[in-house]
Amino acid sequence: LTNLLSIESMPLENIQRVLDVARQTGFEKLPGRVVVNLFYEASTRTRLSFELAARRLGADVITFDPETSSEKKGESMKDTALTLQALGADVLVIRHSESGVPKFMSDFVNCSVVNAGDGTHEHPTQALLDLYTIRQRFGQIAGLRVGIVGDVKHSRVAHSLYLALAKMGAETVLIGPRRFLTSRPGPYVSYSLDTELASLDVCYVLRTQKERHQHAFDPGGVAYKLTTRRATMLPDHAIVMHPGPMNRGEEIDSEVADSPRSAILDQVTNGVAVRAAVLQEMMRGR
Ligand code: CP
Repeated sequence: LTNLLSIESMPLENIQRVLDVARQTGFEKLPGRVVVNLFYEASTRTRLSFELAARRLGADVITFDPETSSEKKGESMKDTALTLQALGADVLVIRHSESGVPKFMSDFVNCSVVNAGDGTHEHPTQALLDLYTIRQRFGQIAGLRVGIVGDVKHSRVAHSLYLALAKMGAETVLIGPRRFLTSRPGPYVSYSLDTELASLDVCYVLRTQKERHQHAFDPGGVAYKLTTRRATMLPDHAIVMHPGPMNRGEEIDSEVADSPRSAILDQVTNGVAVRAAVLQEMMRGR
């Protein structure tokens, strides 16, 4: 792996390699390598799990905080990236509210770049940890039916996930109101959660991405909320997933989020091993 900018550009064999490496019990120690987190947008899970993953590999990990950085004095993002490279960075982990910023950075630095979520575009390591979690629960991914529910249009998580599921041979159905399903061509769409629930192996619930809406959002009822009653319509073996952060009571009932069929905290836990696998594959060749 040189960069990880999208699932779209990631060959299937690289996806499988990351999932297999993440399952190993021990990681290679890569002391002296430097991982820099640059988060221009809020994060709990992604930032902290990259930090833990880098430490697990014996690398040095430092955090660039845009709010207290020299960007406040007018320095450009390009000069920030070149400065971090001059400080010895091997990997830049970048989150930004604008789509394309990680790709832009990767065009002029020699170190590796990981997209940790860019605008509405992609969040590839989230998709990798989601695949890992699904495989952990079911032993396989091919042939499963996954419903991705809610604000698909504004969700980088959804865009990466359905591309990843397609590469792995799973079937995806995007479920939500028409205004949230007009993003890109691809998988099946459905406007009725109630109709789809009985056929799902995985019900993947999204937060409504209000910060990315151009107009005030009127949720228009609870037709796409995974309520306790709706969760009983899922097959017994089906699992519930959510990338976090959750808004309990909005897109999902607390009782469902905390139920035995919920894999939400497994997703968080698995994020460390999957991100360690990504970093190991990037840094071992450097
Ligand atoms: N799923 C996810 O990206 O969570 P954070 O925004 O907390 O990193």
